[in-house]
Order: sequence, then structure tokens, then C-alpha cells
Amino acid sequence: MILSIINKKGGVGKTPISFSLAKDLGYYLQSNDNSVIESIYPDMAKITEHPSLIENCIYDFGGFVDAGVLQIIKESDVVMIPCSIDYNSILRTVETIEEIQPHAKAIVVIITKVEKEGDFQTTKAAIAQHFDEIEFFELRLSKVFKNTIETGLSISELYNETPLSKNAYKTVYKQYLNILNLFTND
Ligand SMILES: Nc1ncnc2c1ncn2[C@@H]1O[C@H](COP(=O)(O)OP(=O)(O)OP(=O)(O)O)[C@@H](O)[C@H]1O
Ligand SMILES: [Mg+2]
Repeated sequence: MILSIINKKGGVGKTPISFSLAKDLGYYLQSNDNSVIESIYPDMAKITEHPSLIENCIYDFGGFVDAGVLQIIKESDVVMIPCSIDYNSILRTVETIEEIQPHAKAIVVIITKVEKEGDFQTTKAAIAQHFDEIEFFELRLSKVFKNTIETGLSISELYNETPLSKNAYKTVYKQYLNILNLFTND
């Protein structure tokens, strides 16, 4: 499977989400955007201005959409667009979807940094009014996203570490599994 994660808005969670999914799926990870993925995911992650199209890979795309990015978007089975709950993120996300949707086979929006009751529904409604056929998922504000990048462990690995971590990450892990399970066969 080929998966892409993209949003021109920064700080929405592209890198922690793509890294964790890649590690849990045993997939390669490529990015056109600088981050620590090559050191935390050796031999599997690569940062390059021109990512190459390979099977079993997740692409973490920051910045603007050039021809090379668009080519990989077209070949992706699913394009994930993380969007945090702030107004600016919603605006940039709508722009990103407008640019991507004509080329993508399937788009999934992941509402990130959800803090309180209603955040998910409000953000979802603000985006959904512009588009058809988009599926929405949510990920609550959590330390697990910082920890996945700092430790090089996936969200599943962090969750499974100790009884204490299972308790701390219970809700966000369940939300994360809803996304991971889109790409596994059980
Ligand atoms: N639910 C969440 N989903 C994603 N990130 C979250 C969440 N909750 C908190 N965070 C934090 O938000 C930040 C988002 O990650 P990051 O800044 O790497 O995103 P990005 O989209 O890759 O940005 P950039 O375009 O700058 O590379 C991280 O510091 C992460 O720990
Ligand atoms: Mg990033």
C-alpha cells in the first residue's frame, strides 16, 4: 500500500502520525520535510527533496505541492490530512484538500489536538461543508506524539510498555487504532 500524509499547515502532526503508522505497519517512510525520522527510524526513513515512488511506504509531505509530490499523491491508496482545531489550520486544510482532491483516490481527514467535547464535531463540520466523500478521524491532544518522536517508539509500542502507559494512553491509543486499522487486514 502507498499512503501519503500532507498539509501545508505545519504543526498539525504529520511527522509523529506518519512515523508511528510506518513503524507499526513495517512500512518505509519518506519525507520532503526536515525532521528526525532518519535517526529514529534507521534504514527505513529517508528525507529527500524528491521522494521516490515505492510500495509499502508512507510519505510525509510538508510545504507546497510540486509535480513530484502530486505524482505520489495520485498513486496513493489513501491521502491523510491532519488538521488541528484552530481556525488557521482549518483554512489551510480546506486549501490543501481543494488542491489534492481532484487527484486523490481517497481522502481521510484526521482532526488533531482535540482538547474538549465538541472540538471534533465543530472542526469536522467546518471542513465537511466544503467537500463530499471525506472520512474523519480524531486524535486528542496528548504527550504520546512528542514521545513517539523522542523515543523512536510507535504509539502502539509506547502504549504497550507498562500498565501505567496503557492507562495514560488509553483513549488516544483507541483513536489511533481506528486509523491504523484502515491499513491492516484484521
Ligand atoms: N493529537 C495530536 N496529534 C498530533 N500531534 C499532536 C497531538 N497532540 C499534540 N501533538 C503535538 O503537536 C505537534 C505536531 O507535530 P509536528 O509539529 O511535528 O507536526 P507537522 O505537521 O509534522 O509539522 P511540520 O510541518 O512543522 O513538520 C507535536 O509537538 C506533537 O507532540
Ligand atoms: Mg513534520
